[in-house]
Amino acid sequence: MTARRRRRFGLHAKVIVALAVGAALVSAVLALSTFFFVRRDLVDQQISSILRQTYADARLVKLELGAPSAHIGNALASLAPANGALAFVHHGRKWYSSSASVSGKTIPRGFTRTVDRGNTAEQRVTLDGTPTLVVGVPIPSIGVEYFEEHPLTELASTLRVLATVLTTVAIATTVGGALVGWWTSRRLVRPLDEVVLAATDIAGGTLDRRVPADPDLEPLVESFNSMVSTLQERIERDARFAADVTHELRSPITTISASVELLGSYAGSLPDGASFAVTTLRLEVDRFSRIVQELIEIAGMDAGAAAVHFTDVPLADLARATAAARRPPVPVTVAGDAGRLVVRGDKRRLRQVLVNLLDNADTHGGGAVGMAVGVAGGSDAGVDGRAATITVDDAGPGVPVEERARIFDRFYRGAASGRRGATQGTGLGLALVAEHVRLHSGTVAMGDRPGGGSRVTVKLPVVEP
Ligand SMILES: Nc1ncnc2c1ncn2[C@@H]1O[C@H](COP(=O)(O)OP(=O)(O)OP(=O)(O)O)[C@@H](O)[C@H]1O
Ligand SMILES: [Mg+2]
Repeated sequence: MTARRRRRFGLHAKVIVALAVGAALVSAVLALSTFFFVRRDLVDQQISSILRQTYADARLVKLELGAPSAHIGNALASLAPANGALAFVHHGRKWYSSSASVSGKTIPRGFTRTVDRGNTAEQRVTLDGTPTLVVGVPIPSIGVEYFEEHPLTELASTLRVLATVLTTVAIATTVGGALVGWWTSRRLVRPLDEVVLAATDIAGGTLDRRVPADPDLEPLVESFNSMVSTLQERIERDARFAADVTHELRSPITTISASVELLGSYAGSLPDGASFAVTTLRLEVDRFSRIVQELIEIAGMDAGAAAVHFTDVPLADLARATAAARRPPVPVTVAGDAGRLVVRGDKRRLRQVLVNLLDNADTHGGGAVGMAVGVAGGSDAGVDGRAATITVDDAGPGVPVEERARIFDRFYRGAASGRRGATQGTGLGLALVAEHVRLHSGTVAMGDRPGGGSRVTVKLPVVEP
């Protein structure tokens, strides 16, 4: 489940990141190129308008200073260039300015020299932290140079606004890309989710589960469903075969058992060797007969042919009756509020669960030391979240933690199987317990008994009495 989530998250994340990065790249390229083109255009426009204004002002200055009673200060005062621009006249070594507070000496010397030599020039400089365009026009006919300083603050602030707008748009586009990616990936993954859910159900045993038709995934859904159908048919065929085989074994084994039983009654009159052989034969036939019985039961359940008779079973009564029939009887503890617990179940199967567990306690744990019926809460409890627990305790060696899940496998006999002759078991007892419990929507687990030994806990959903 977690792996599935991780994989899904991986796909989601990849699509989201891919689209967000794509959107970020495209919008960054667009924003940058827009910014540079617009800036170049604006700057060009501004410079040519400043140049136009400066040339016009220079012409005026030339006119005014050409008159006989000309005064440079008056000429400058009459100009009043727009937008905070300043005008200067350089005459000989002296500077005249349109502003009392700013002198023409702020103009870079190199630039002044260029204009002194008779060249019109413009240059972008930073004066007092303000980007400024300085323009110089020589007026040789009257022996002066005319300069203007135009602050470019308005242009700079326009460009700042433009940069802010473009950045915002780029960020919004990136977020938009991520959102589209999120939506797309959800849309992409949704049909796959159905397949994953169906696969999980099928793995959990719901073999008749199919994926609903989906136009986006038609070939996948079709082949998935047909694969599951094939699998289901095959599993059902195998289960039927096993059920038939075990069923067919029933009558020969009954005949053999009866014959061996009969033979056993003559054991006393047989020679020593033959009597030993008959005893061995009886043991093996008993074992064989038990295996066949258990196999018939398990195969029947696999094939879905198990005859189940559900009734209301008072659990404490069942436990007491089963325990009392044991030799020696096993003590049963019933928790205060567990006495009235009722399970909707098949009495024969539930009794067999208890008998198999008690048998195991005898065979592997030196005898059952107690059974207990109690109430359990929890989400796996079933009806109304209420469940009953039955525990079977022994004081034997217990089962190592790493074997606890496997002992419910068919034919698994744990460490005991290594010790030849140590047990007559077939390893089907707990497998049968697990099947019966599953049939009742319950769970069974092997654990530790406080004080040593093993404790098997069966949890069954209960109905209200
Ligand atoms: N109470 C227990 N204490 C220790 N080991 C146990 C206990 N119950 C089960 N086991 C281990 O789990 C194995 C599987 O148990 P299971 O009942 O399925 O098979 P079995 O008892 O060997 O054979 P049978 O089919 O005759 O019951 C046992 O062989 C044993 O190793
Ligand atoms: Mg057993």
